[in-house]
Amino acid sequence: MPSPSCTSPHLTPLVQVDQLAKRYGETAPATVFEQVSCEVRPGEFVAVVGDSGVGKSTFLNCLAGLDSWQQGRVVHAGVDLSTLNEAQRAIWRRRHLGFVFQAFHVLPHLDVAQNVALPLMLLGRHGAESQERVQQVLQAVGLAELGGRLPQQLSGGQLQRVAIARALVHEPPLLLADEPTGNLDPGTARQIMDLLLARTRERQTALVLVTHSMDAARRADRILRLTSRGMQPEAAC
Ligand SMILES: Nc1ncnc2c1ncn2[C@@H]1O[C@H](COP(=O)(O)OP(=O)(O)OP(=O)(O)O)[C@@H](O)[C@H]1O
Ligand SMILES: [Mg+2]
Repeated sequence: MPSPSCTSPHLTPLVQVDQLAKRYGETAPATVFEQVSCEVRPGEFVAVVGDSGVGKSTFLNCLAGLDSWQQGRVVHAGVDLSTLNEAQRAIWRRRHLGFVFQAFHVLPHLDVAQNVALPLMLLGRHGAESQERVQQVLQAVGLAELGGRLPQQLSGGQLQRVAIARALVHEPPLLLADEPTGNLDPGTARQIMDLLLARTRERQTALVLVTHSMDAARRADRILRLTSRGMQPEAAC
């Protein structure tokens, strides 16, 4: 069972992580982390902090079913990810997840608006309504005028906001964000955090945010610290 202090008191969990262990390599496996347990509920904002290299991005990839693990369980709204094959996980991700990757992963040959529209297209949503939604979310991240640009014509901070817009456009119940404000100036970072937080509260979606920024982490409902031996609540939460 997860430690009670890594859980929150109300509502059925949207995400349950139970005793997760991750190792890389087969002949001489190196443990990244083990005994990682936590829960995230709808409408909750959880920040995950930890030293560089401790496994935060790896942990988010496991939560998304993009990486495998050696022990433990990841359960989303009652669905154990280990019971889904690759194709089923991909379909599950499309419907339930927005992911802001630390390295953005925007597609270089598509313009900004096309990159942001991708999750809608994968859900079969085309046409004027989806274009309007793309414009709305570009506006929300401050890129309303840049929809026709190619990624190579953007700054690092603008690229980061494209990745954020793409993760939000289909209004997923769970948003996983890996250092989403890492390349932004303090003012823009605050605006992006306002946007993520407002969305979490208004729509009762959940946000798991990995960050090195204590300014960003302090706005969370709970701060969890990842170590190689588990996930512990940070004193401030
Ligand atoms: N594909 C891989 N094969 C082997 N080791 C890996 C692989 N990917 C990551 N690692 C190792 O796993 C550990 C965790 O990496 P990860 O990227 O999750 O750390 P992180 O906490 O996100 O770091 P940062 O704060 O710098 O982003 C690191 O030691 C890294 O070198
Ligand atoms: Mg990382």
